[in-house]
Amino acid sequence: MKIKTADFVACCDDYKKCPEANMPEYAFIGRSNVGKSSLINRICERNALAKTSSTPGKTQCIVHFLINRQWYIADLPGYGYAKIGQKQREKWRQMTQAYMLRRPNLYCVFVLVDLRIPPQSIDMEFMRFLGENEVPFCILGTKADKLSAKQREESVNAIKEKLSDTWDPLPPFIVSSAQTGLGREEILDFIEQANANLAEA
Ligand code: GTP
Ligand code: MG
Repeated sequence: MKIKTADFVACCDDYKKCPEANMPEYAFIGRSNVGKSSLINRICERNALAKTSSTPGKTQCIVHFLINRQWYIADLPGYGYAKIGQKQREKWRQMTQAYMLRRPNLYCVFVLVDLRIPPQSIDMEFMRFLGENEVPFCILGTKADKLSAKQREESVNAIKEKLSDTWDPLPPFIVSSAQTGLGREEILDFIEQANANLAEA
């Protein structure tokens, strides 16, 4: 799929204030600093569409981008950032959980996991939450450029091994890098296929 247009639409702190739910939507979520906003920019081939930062906690609301005037990307605040206050963390948790459960056009959640570190229980818990609530998701391994081919394989295997405690079959998994663009085509193919399935339904 070609990205012809990618436009910022809104930044909302409540799912009820999000843009009208009249097009398929794909959300990007994962631990703080995992690379959500960077990957969105790479997918859309727009350097400064989503705001990125080396300091965790950059994205603080639900940010909507309209792609090809046909579907939405939602960039979400990260979870698991230790340095934000308890109150703010609870606010984000409630905001993202309500969004995941109640946004009617949310067609798939991309859960980003950092390939450089061992599987994290906070990520597993989040996926369990999605599964229990029947929210479809696809895992994106991030920052693959930081690893050798062998390290990448080991990392993916470790995550899959951990996932197999809970999931059979395993959820879809795509290895990516915002730096090199690895995985971009695969992610866009996934979305294109999902959009086509929706149009047929
Ligand atoms: P929050 O919004 O704070 O939750 O973070 P985020 O998940 O949106 O991460 P963001 O895209 O802001 O990136 C965090 C840091 O990781 C930045 O310093 C990025 O440059 C870096 N980064 C993101 N993706 C990649 C990647 O694929 N490769 C490398 N090497 N660095 C990356
Ligand atoms: Mg971000």
